[in-house]
Amino acid sequence: MYQAARGTTDILPAEQPYWRYVEKAIAEVTGLYGYQRIDTPVFEDTSLFRRSAGEYTDIVQKEMYTFDDRGGNSLTLKPEGTPAVCRAFIQHGMQNLPQPVKLHYVSPIFRYDRPQAGRYRQHYQFGVEAIGEADPALDAEVIDLAWRFYRTLGLTRLALQLNSIGCKKCRPGYLAVLKDYYARQPGTLCDDCKIRLEKNPLRLLDCKQATCQPVADATPESFKYLCPECAEHFQKLQKYLGRLEIPFKLNHRLVRGLDYYTRTVFEVQPELEGGQSTIGGGGRYDDLIEELGGKPAPAIGFATGIERIILNIKEQNISIPALPGPQVLIACLGEEARETAINLAAQLRKAGIGTAMTTGDRSLKAQLRQANSLGVRYTVIIGGDEVKTATVTLKDMSGARQETVSAADLAGRLNRLLK
Ligand code: HAM
Repeated sequence: MYQAARGTTDILPAEQPYWRYVEKAIAEVTGLYGYQRIDTPVFEDTSLFRRSAGEYTDIVQKEMYTFDDRGGNSLTLKPEGTPAVCRAFIQHGMQNLPQPVKLHYVSPIFRYDRPQAGRYRQHYQFGVEAIGEADPALDAEVIDLAWRFYRTLGLTRLALQLNSIGCKKCRPGYLAVLKDYYARQPGTLCDDCKIRLEKNPLRLLDCKQATCQPVADATPESFKYLCPECAEHFQKLQKYLGRLEIPFKLNHRLVRGLDYYTRTVFEVQPELEGGQSTIGGGGRYDDLIEELGGKPAPAIGFATGIERIILNIKEQNISIPALPGPQVLIACLGEEARETAINLAAQLRKAGIGTAMTTGDRSLKAQLRQANSLGVRYTVIIGGDEVKTATVTLKDMSGARQETVSAADLAGRLNRLLK
């Protein structure tokens, strides 16, 4: 029997209320902050993602779904949303619009990850990107948007972690300090960290191996090696977050899994740590647009995984509104009644009344069971007698009451009752 591919899931009808609930919060919050929607293709040139994420990141080394199309072009399923939005920004001349350009997206994301609870090979991200402005007030806005989004969903017990990893000017100095520090550690590094020390020292801070934790915890803090401009940027951001009353913790080990970040990086985690803890993260990427061939445009963004949000909504027992279903079911007995039922269902729907109709040859009892399982408020019953008298029996499902209504008046009667 076929199964959904490993690491992918079906979103069944029972799960849909959670997705609609999250989508509604996305529309509400992006509307409040003025972040317009953008949709980009599911695949892009492979080199776009390689150049953006960085050659020595897990995404590029291990996780991309890359394939050649029939024309011999190397394409990759979107492993994250940011490079695609940057590509669109450059391609459509958005640097000529008033800056910053504020965009949001909801997109499937593909990563060849090891599947487990909250980690999938196809997941969905809601993300925002604000491009064309270096002001730390914009960093504060993006963090505030993320924070408000989680609050809108009713999520609590979340912790915001913050760091600054400097810019092109001050990062090399910090990396030298970091390399020097690690070189002085006795041979305790894991194999991955030995490579990181050579190829991408910032990633040393990100190591998850137990043996590397004491060394990584005691590393010199990046925010102590910032150039004056980056230090001022970071100070102002912290001041603005204070004004917004958003609590945060500085975490000098927070470097994120992508190489394009500059200055601000942040992550949001549930306070009670589960398996997959990070619910959302982002940061500044002041050089990426230029590296992808655009005019220099500093930027900041954030993305959050919708499956992980839903896991947290369930863990925190947040009640979700049910999705509206049909309000009326038409049950019928016999062929003549069926023809009347088809007519009436069409009339009711035209009048804006959500209407389901039974099909097949089932007993009235079975049809009423169906009405109950659909949760309709009224069942319209049409049998031989009703056909003869051009009436229907209207049954209120919340009590035992029923009445006879002329078929011609049914839409009007239901509209009054359902108001
Ligand atoms: P990211 O931290 O790699 O950032 O992913 C964002 C969020 O996607 C994570 O916090 C997590 O909730 C979710 N996520 C990541 N991988 C998986 C997975 N395998 N299964 C389920 N959920 C997952 C980025 O992608 C950046 N583009 C964010 C950004 C936007 N930075 C600047 N702008």
